[in-house]
Amino acid sequence: MRLFIDSANLEEIRTAASWGILSGVTTNPTLLAKEDPTLDPWEHLREIHRLVGGHISVEVTATDTSGMVREAYEIVSHISEAVIKIPMTPEGMAAVRELTRENIPTNVTLIFSPAQALLAANAGASFVSIFLGRLDDVGSDGLRVLETVCDIWDRQGFDVEIIAASLRHPMHLVEAARLGADIATAPFRVLHQAMKHPLTDLGLQAFLEDYRRLQEEQARRRQLSLTEVASR
Ligand code: G3P
Repeated sequence: MRLFIDSANLEEIRTAASWGILSGVTTNPTLLAKEDPTLDPWEHLREIHRLVGGHISVEVTATDTSGMVREAYEIVSHISEAVIKIPMTPEGMAAVRELTRENIPTNVTLIFSPAQALLAANAGASFVSIFLGRLDDVGSDGLRVLETVCDIWDRQGFDVEIIAASLRHPMHLVEAARLGADIATAPFRVLHQAMKHPLTDLGLQAFLEDYRRLQEEQARRRQLSLTEVASR
């Protein structure tokens, strides 16, 4: 399972990219709206792509099919490798069909049920994004939905990549990998939480402390033998 960062924040993206764990980035209008409004939107997206390389999903904001297709062309005219994020609506599915015919890859977003994923696959989506956290937020079971989607994909042999999205904690990452998602896209906080473990910090602290003591002891012995030689 590959890891993407779900963010539009340059600092977060730069930091996570420097860890060497990322294969891509997903954005959405809400994430972009949290950032500096003085940034040129295309410059901003290009910089995000430059920092991570690989996959970048950029979402359309039109709600009608022709508007979505028009925006998709505009996005790829600025970032030719962009994958177009299209919402799971009837108009969106028509746009996916049209863009697929033109070999423009799409990531169908806001998928909350296996039935929606099935429809998106049939429209020709390249990626389907299953929103785990938002399902959990309303008392549903996001991982159960993801599990069903993965089972269907195994049986049907769909060539559409499954993205576990809307992740809230590291166990979402772990379970998404166990169930067979191709990609998990996580906010910086979740990637950071996944990186950290108190036993790693304590273990490293002890290793460094022990090694420092060894070096001090070696230095003390060297000093001792120098003093002995000098006193002869
Ligand atoms: O990739 C989907 C994601 O952006 C939604 O996440 O945290 O807003 O539910 P969230």
